[in-house]
Amino acid sequence: MERRLLAAAWRSFVSRIDWLSQPASALHGDVRVPGDKSVSHRSLMLSALAEGRSHIRGFLEGEDTRATAAVLQQLGVRIEMPSEGERVVHGVGLHGLHGTDRPLDCGNAGTGMRLLAGLLAGQEFDSTLVGDESLSKRPMRRVTEPLAAMGARIDTLEGLPPLRIHGSQALKGIRYTLPVASAQVKSALLLAGLYAEGETEVIEPHPTRDYTERMLAAFGWPIDFEPGRARLSGGHRLCATDVDVPADFSSAAFFLVAGSIVPGSALRLPAVGLNPRRTGLLQALRLMGADIRVENERESGGEPVGDLIVRHARLRGVELPEVLVPDMIDEFPALFVAAAVADGRTVVRGAAELRVKESDRIATMATGLKAIGVAIEETPDGAIIEGGALRGGDVDSHGDHRIAMSFAVAGLLASAPIRIADCANVATSFPGFLELANGCGFALRGAD
Ligand code: S3P
Repeated sequence: MERRLLAAAWRSFVSRIDWLSQPASALHGDVRVPGDKSVSHRSLMLSALAEGRSHIRGFLEGEDTRATAAVLQQLGVRIEMPSEGERVVHGVGLHGLHGTDRPLDCGNAGTGMRLLAGLLAGQEFDSTLVGDESLSKRPMRRVTEPLAAMGARIDTLEGLPPLRIHGSQALKGIRYTLPVASAQVKSALLLAGLYAEGETEVIEPHPTRDYTERMLAAFGWPIDFEPGRARLSGGHRLCATDVDVPADFSSAAFFLVAGSIVPGSALRLPAVGLNPRRTGLLQALRLMGADIRVENERESGGEPVGDLIVRHARLRGVELPEVLVPDMIDEFPALFVAAAVADGRTVVRGAAELRVKESDRIATMATGLKAIGVAIEETPDGAIIEGGALRGGDVDSHGDHRIAMSFAVAGLLASAPIRIADCANVATSFPGFLELANGCGFALRGAD
């Protein structure tokens, strides 16, 4: 193992945090979840490449998005933080970034690394993107191969990070059909397309989140897009603009499941982003019988937002429609917990992508759920889960933030406490989860 990875592994060992989630009674109150991770990453990148000063509000103060900010600062972008959740970015223009000899550390963030790969492929300087232990195991050929087809030169370690990106390559636009639905890959190609000669077109097997497209348009770059397809040409300019980041639906997801499964609960989640490419879990939970209402629907910063009201309801197992998978790709750990306590069987198919997230989320959830008494069978692209009672026990999140939070939710209904190992990475996407969760009735604390 490289010396840098050994150091990262040691750091994560000494900063290991375990949680104990204890059974609790009804959950109540308003839960303000933090800003959207996808939108926060993109708002920094586009603001950095724009001409002028952009003001970002509702920015996610997570480790992932802070890593992206630090990378852009290393590349010469001035970023101010007037207060928590606010950034003022002094854009340097499309060709104003400066190279650095030092590696650019994306931390745990796949989104940061893949989007930056596209952005950096078009620069005049070389750069190296590195990540933590988990990110260093995540597949990068999905971005480096199409970028190479555009003329980029990127070396990997057999398809894994670090990414060594060679500058001064003349990029050409391509028409690319994604083999797997991925907003990260689509976005990487569109960002490289800003620097390419001619037209870059990305076609998706199933529409994915379109934040890059919407935000490029908001920053004044001409772009044609519709669900499943996006097309732009190089040679324009980005103009600074202000961005209001909505609350992250993926963070709200844990409370939607918690409020649904704990008897007597009623929670309100204000101003959550409701981009239709993100809300598959809402549909899935409703199919299972959940009582979730959307109130006060409005638009904020070009995105649909609304207040979500969730009340306890008896859930039943479902055969999850495969068409929902890309629209809830980050919500499966939470859905598995809902399925584990629902009446009857839930079947998930067509979700093989879960195996290459921050952990192998099918395997990690299956192992953890079995440890607390759930009958779950792993399949190559999903799982079959028999709903029933949960008992206490020891589970391992494998450093995956969404697995840790999902088992915290499971602990609410278990017959005895669940001890969850390796929860520090919750700070990558949801700083303050513990406090917010306890504020509405969880009984969650650090374990000794
Ligand atoms: C993201 C896209 C998804 C998602 C990730 C964020 C994005 O990844 O899982 O958390 O911001 O574009 P894939 O593109 O790999 O599906």
